[in-house]
Amino acid sequence: MPPYAPIRWQNGQPFSTEFDDVYFSSDSGLAESHYVFIQHNQLIERFTALPEHGRFCIAETGFGSGLNFLCAAACFIQYAPASTRLHFVSVEKHPLSPADMQQALALWPSLQILAQELIAQYQLLAPGWQRLLLADGRITLTLLIGDVLERLPELDARVDAWFLDGFAPAKNPDMWQLPLFQQMARLSVPGGTFATFTSAGTVRRGLAEAGFHVQKSPGFGRKREMSHGHLAQLPASHWQPPWFARPPTHSGERSAIVIGAGIAGAATAYSLARRGWQVTVLERLPQAAAAASGNPQGMLYTKLSAHFTAQTQLILSGYGYSLRLLRQLLPQAEDSWQACGVLQLAHQPAEAQKQAKLAALGLAHDLMRPVDASEASKLAGIALTQGGLFFPQGGWVHPPALVNKLLEHPGIQLQTDCTISGFHYEQQQQLWQVHEQDGTSRRAAVLILTNAGEAASFDATGHLPLQITRGQITLLRSTVQSAALQTVLCSDGYIAPARHQQHCLGATFQASTDLSIQAADHQQNLQMLAQLAPSLHSTLSAENHELTGRSALRCSSPDYLPLIGPLTAPADFLAYYQSMYHGIKPAANRIAPWLSGLYINTAHGSRGLISAPLSGEILAALLENEPAPLSHSLMQAIHPNRFLLRDLVHHRWGTP
Ligand SMILES: Cc1cc2nc3c(=O)[nH]c(=O)nc-3n(C[C@H](O)[C@H](O)[C@H](O)COP(=O)(O)OP(=O)(O)OC[C@H]3O[C@@H](n4cnc5c(N)ncnc54)[C@H](O)[C@@H]3O)c2cc1C
Ligand SMILES: C[S@@+](CC[C@H](N)C(=O)[O-])C[C@H]1O[C@@H](n2cnc3c(N)ncnc32)[C@H](O)[C@@H]1O
Repeated sequence: MPPYAPIRWQNGQPFSTEFDDVYFSSDSGLAESHYVFIQHNQLIERFTALPEHGRFCIAETGFGSGLNFLCAAACFIQYAPASTRLHFVSVEKHPLSPADMQQALALWPSLQILAQELIAQYQLLAPGWQRLLLADGRITLTLLIGDVLERLPELDARVDAWFLDGFAPAKNPDMWQLPLFQQMARLSVPGGTFATFTSAGTVRRGLAEAGFHVQKSPGFGRKREMSHGHLAQLPASHWQPPWFARPPTHSGERSAIVIGAGIAGAATAYSLARRGWQVTVLERLPQAAAAASGNPQGMLYTKLSAHFTAQTQLILSGYGYSLRLLRQLLPQAEDSWQACGVLQLAHQPAEAQKQAKLAALGLAHDLMRPVDASEASKLAGIALTQGGLFFPQGGWVHPPALVNKLLEHPGIQLQTDCTISGFHYEQQQQLWQVHEQDGTSRRAAVLILTNAGEAASFDATGHLPLQITRGQITLLRSTVQSAALQTVLCSDGYIAPARHQQHCLGATFQASTDLSIQAADHQQNLQMLAQLAPSLHSTLSAENHELTGRSALRCSSPDYLPLIGPLTAPADFLAYYQSMYHGIKPAANRIAPWLSGLYINTAHGSRGLISAPLSGEILAALLENEPAPLSHSLMQAIHPNRFLLRDLVHHRWGTP
């Protein structure tokens, strides 16, 4: 799949050379978008009538230039009550390049404020799910990069209104198929509406067959007719694993306690606070970001697989989200972060082969591109003996700066020096009560465990297979030669450009919880540097005789994916799904016996800066019944219940 749509400019407007069709009406694209999609989905009335904290979800086929999105977002801001939120999900197989997008959106002066916000974030559009936040988080745009017929079956959302766009059916017959209309029916709320510019008979018949009531109305401008309607008949539902089904939407008090003030806790608190929740973050150390999230520099780097494994999909979504969030929240500086680029060097033939496969995917160059040793040396500012992959937007971040910025949100209260020893649910008040070591306690409707490996130290979570790996970084005073380093270099380990005259070199991996600094680990880090960049190794080891460093504990899971989602008691899970011992599926409506309002967000392993910022959005989506920021299968791959299920089907608890 080429990264960007092939277009030409015709009378100042984008024209698809692949589909031989226009992106929007040459008469007045904005007026047509308003007439067809806003008016015929009755959006002004529906936005105006939203209740406090209400949500509205629009889904679209064919994001194109984002005109429909901006039109709907502007309308939402104008008419919907201030506490409400709009979720716009759009599928796009061939995104416009950022430059074409900018040129196309320049055509609409009235939409410029939102258009500029969109353009600033419209990058790193790798295949899969990409989340963008506009209007201070009130408007969430989830772009599904890929073919409609492949992406919609993976969407987990309840759609109120559809914008059925995507070039004329005669020019793009592959898209306008019954499976598309069936997916629309599966995803729609009862009575959910749709509108489309076309009145083609095949489209109307397909929509009717999928359960929609279809009406015709006069088309816009010179077009004779258009179609619109609503879901009149709910489709038959297919079996879905009930242990992964969403818990009931939270409807009570919007208060949460988050245990642990690392990047996972701060991101969780931030995503909830942005949605109007009152969040208390409890941290046992004297300050936030003082455990694993406390290194001076953490790398924003990605190790991808050309097979688009679950890990790669998560990394691609997380990488884009982390970078967009950083750009929105923190100006680049030595005290915060630097998008200096990351060079992933091909230090071994096997790595070079892997990289060649990745390069052959033809991903957008703002994500990554292959470079030879000579270009790599120019980019890095120092001589390198190998080429590799260059990630121009990656870099390093000072994790405490990001954590503290997230925790600054007025909806968040941070309490440090506060160690939580346990918690229980008060059934009558429907509140979680958490107990501090000093005997005091606090209550909230929702409790989220983000305390890394110690999240498994409570009665309710002792069954979770969390693994702890110690890591040590080495801090090296920069030299005149090493100060020339411009980008992060990584292979098995990494080194970052100097921050406050100090390089961060890391990191080791050991199954230990001993946090004392080890000389052997420093040597291991230096050996890694000798392979990565011999010239840096010579200059830095000549100047740094007494080595300093920092160690901390990573938390991971057996499959190296994080655990993000609701929790169940193992005994209840076992009792509920006993039939799985014999390979018999339980009824789809046998929804897991959730521990009401108890969630976990941990096991970010050695990539927390990529996966943790997005994890807050994942939890918020579950709590607020919003579209998931990841595909169905990825949401299941990170679900905390996956281990209970594996134990059950592998008879690890014996047969009842
Ligand atoms: C040496 C090293 C180098 C790394 N390098 C990178 C990198 O370059 N790039 C990258 O993306 N990732 C890197 N990582 C991984 C990254 O740091 C982690 O994935 C991330 O910090 C995990 O964040 P967290 O919030 O889950 O955990 P933490 O930051 O550990 O936060 C958990 C918090 O919970 C608190 N807590 C625990 N128990 C309790 C309790 N009972 N009550 C109250 N509070 C409690 C802890 O004090 C802690 O502050 C590295 C990790 C290490 C160790
Ligand atoms: C007419 S444009 C959409 C205009 C857009 N809604 C706007 O507001 O600018 C049609 C878009 O549909 C996309 N498209 C076509 N077929 C598709 C498919 N099968 N899956 C996903 N997107 C598709 C095209 O790449 C193109 O960007």
